[in-house]
Amino acid sequence: MNDSAISSVSARRVWDSRGNPTVEAEVGLVSGAVGRAIAPAGASRGAREAIDLRDGGKNLDGKNVLGAVDNVNTLIAPALIGMNANEQHDVDATLVALDGTPLKSVLGANATVAVSMAVLHAAAIAKQLPLWQHIADLSGQTPSVPLPEIQIFGGGAHAGRRVDVQDFMVMVPGAESFDEVLEITSEIYRAAGRIMTRKGRSVGVADEGGWWPVFDSNEEALETLVQAIEDAGEIPGERVVISLDIAASEFCTDGRYHLALEDRDLSRDEMIRMLGDWIDAYPIVSIEDPLAEDDREGVIAFTQEFGDRVQIIGDDYLVTNADLVSNAADEGACNAVLIKVNQSGTVSESMACLATARERGYRGVVSARSGETEDVTICHLAVGLDAGQLKVGSFTRSERMAKWNECLRIDDQPGSGGFVKGAPLAGTWWSRQQTDKTK
Ligand code: PGA
Ligand code: ZN
Repeated sequence: MNDSAISSVSARRVWDSRGNPTVEAEVGLVSGAVGRAIAPAGASRGAREAIDLRDGGKNLDGKNVLGAVDNVNTLIAPALIGMNANEQHDVDATLVALDGTPLKSVLGANATVAVSMAVLHAAAIAKQLPLWQHIADLSGQTPSVPLPEIQIFGGGAHAGRRVDVQDFMVMVPGAESFDEVLEITSEIYRAAGRIMTRKGRSVGVADEGGWWPVFDSNEEALETLVQAIEDAGEIPGERVVISLDIAASEFCTDGRYHLALEDRDLSRDEMIRMLGDWIDAYPIVSIEDPLAEDDREGVIAFTQEFGDRVQIIGDDYLVTNADLVSNAADEGACNAVLIKVNQSGTVSESMACLATARERGYRGVVSARSGETEDVTICHLAVGLDAGQLKVGSFTRSERMAKWNECLRIDDQPGSGGFVKGAPLAGTWWSRQQTDKTK
């Protein structure tokens, strides 16, 4: 057998950042190389994303993954042993066929994603290449170090719905280097913490490490974020801009958007107007899931009105699905897609989604889930696929910092392309403002 042939596939139960069980897969090759990867888990999941297999019952709130682990050991292993780990596409096609359902409900996307990513690692180790380089070889892209989106305040499903909006984030497209992005972000995070302490509102952090959102309104969080940027010595809208994940599906019922914090009930048009007012008033460059995942007309209307100014990311709306991106492009919905490998269930399907996005002129943002681990595969995907942007949560807690630190290491490696100031936000108001300045 070829050195890169798969000789073993196994899984074990490990634990994520919420203390929930998850699946770790290990893939061994004939050469002796072993790749390992862990499935992440979402909390504000899209209705159309691939399904994590959970055991149900009373034990661990029904979240156990012994069934998914068993699927790797008894069903996936015999199907993959003997296959060439360098042929990621064939491996993933085998997983898709073995499962046989649109949402991976037989094997579980937690089983397939862990195995798919572990194969990627094993192949890179066997080739003695950094993972990002192996991914760049597979994708044919020129590597680049992504621009981070970093959460300062968490909200929505990640903070007991203390505020409705899920992520209040900063991006630092005007930094000169990846290292500088992190330093500036750290100053902003610290400044935000000082404000919360001063107001007597410092009560810990949300699921992704952002400050717990003790605010009287969603807009107060935005105002506080602007204040934190200023307190950090930055001019909002210059080097630093704001990014929001509204995750609107989480508070939309029967076409009405219920802002629980403010006890307001908005129609689609009122919701669009409110977000438009925020875009006018604050240096917001990116908005994710502005309307609910089933509010197709709303997403199209929002994109028509604001798509030439800001980035509009489909997360729950596009669920890392190439066909949905293609349809959205036909209809004029969103102009960017979030890439979460476990939403599709395999590396190859996620790569196909990003390739479609690229063809249709959509930006790509590789993203972690709110339930994460020490696994840093997504950093390598962002670099090797030249995605441009990376979202992994806040700037505390090791499951988040592991990703930022891995990007620093990759940035130091020759050939990784480095951080290109501003490039990923081409076409937004921010990049036009930069171009105007140089005229
Ligand atoms: P998650 O949400 O809890 O489903 O991972 C993250 C996001 O909406 O981007
Ligand atoms: Zn989202």
